[in-house]
Amino acid sequence: MQPILKTAITAARRAGSVITQAMDRQDHFQVQQKGYNDFVTEVDKKAEKVIIDTLRQSYPDYSILAEETGMQEGVQDCCWIIDPLDGTTNFIHGYPQFGVSIALQCRGKLEHAVIYDPMRQELFTASRGEGAQLNNRRMRVTQERRLGNSLLGTGFPFRNARWVDDYVTTFKNFIPRCVGIRRAGSAALDLAHVASGRFDGFWEFDLSTWDIAAGVLLVQEAGGIVTDLAGGNNYLESGHILAANPRIHQQMLAQISDCLETPPK
Ligand code: IPD
Ligand code: CA
Ligand code: CA
Repeated sequence: MQPILKTAITAARRAGSVITQAMDRQDHFQVQQKGYNDFVTEVDKKAEKVIIDTLRQSYPDYSILAEETGMQEGVQDCCWIIDPLDGTTNFIHGYPQFGVSIALQCRGKLEHAVIYDPMRQELFTASRGEGAQLNNRRMRVTQERRLGNSLLGTGFPFRNARWVDDYVTTFKNFIPRCVGIRRAGSAALDLAHVASGRFDGFWEFDLSTWDIAAGVLLVQEAGGIVTDLAGGNNYLESGHILAANPRIHQQMLAQISDCLETPPK
C-alpha cells in the first residue's frame, strides 16, 4: 500500500474515533443549520479538523477542498477532497449510517480514496490502477446481469426542489423494474456499497463533489462504471450520478433516458 493512502486511512480513522466517541457519550453537540434541510454539528467540524491536521502534516503543499471549511489552495496540482461526516442528518438522529470520505485528486484524476464506516468498522480503500479493498480484502461490484434482479441504492433531492419532479419520475420508473430500492442517507456509503457488491447500482441527483469523489474511485477500481445521468463524465461537477456494475449501468441509463426528456448531466 502506498504511504499516501496510509496517511489518508489514518486521517479517516481518527475522524471515525471523533464521531463514535461523540455517539457513545451521547454528547449534546451543537447543531447549526447551514441551509434548508442542511445541518452541521461540532462533530463534523472537529472530525474535519483532525483530518486536515493529519493530511497537512505529511502533505503541506496540497490543496484541500473540505465540506465545512471550503477550498484552501496549495502549491501543487493535488487536492484532498474531504467529507468529514457524510450522513450528518442520520448522525444527529442516532441513526447508525454515516461515514468519513477522503479522496485525492491530482491533475484532474482521482488517485486515492478512503471511506470509513465507524459504526461497522469497515474501511473501503482504492488507488488508481490498483483495485479496491474492503478491510484489506479485494472487493468487486456484482456480476448481476438483470435489472429485474437488482437491489438499488438512491438518495432523495431533499434540499433543492428543482430536482424533485425529475427524481420522482426516475424513482417511479425503477420501482417495478428491480427487486428493491434503499435510501439509507449517506451517498459515500451508498457508493462504497456498490463497490463492495451490496448494491447492484446507485443513482442520485445534485450531490456535492465531497459526497462522491472517494466513492467514484472505489466503484471504478471495483470494476463498476460511473457516469452522470446522461451517460457523460460531468458527475464530479454536477453531482448527478449513476454508478453500477457495467451491465446494470447500461440498463439503468437506458431507463433514465426513456423516462426523462433531458437527463441531467
Ligand atoms: C448528504 C448525504 C445524503 C445525500 C445528501 C448529502 P451530508 O451528505 O450524502 O445521502 O442525499 O444530498 O448532502 O450533508 O450528510 O454530508
Ligand atoms: Ca456529504
Ligand atoms: Ca458532511
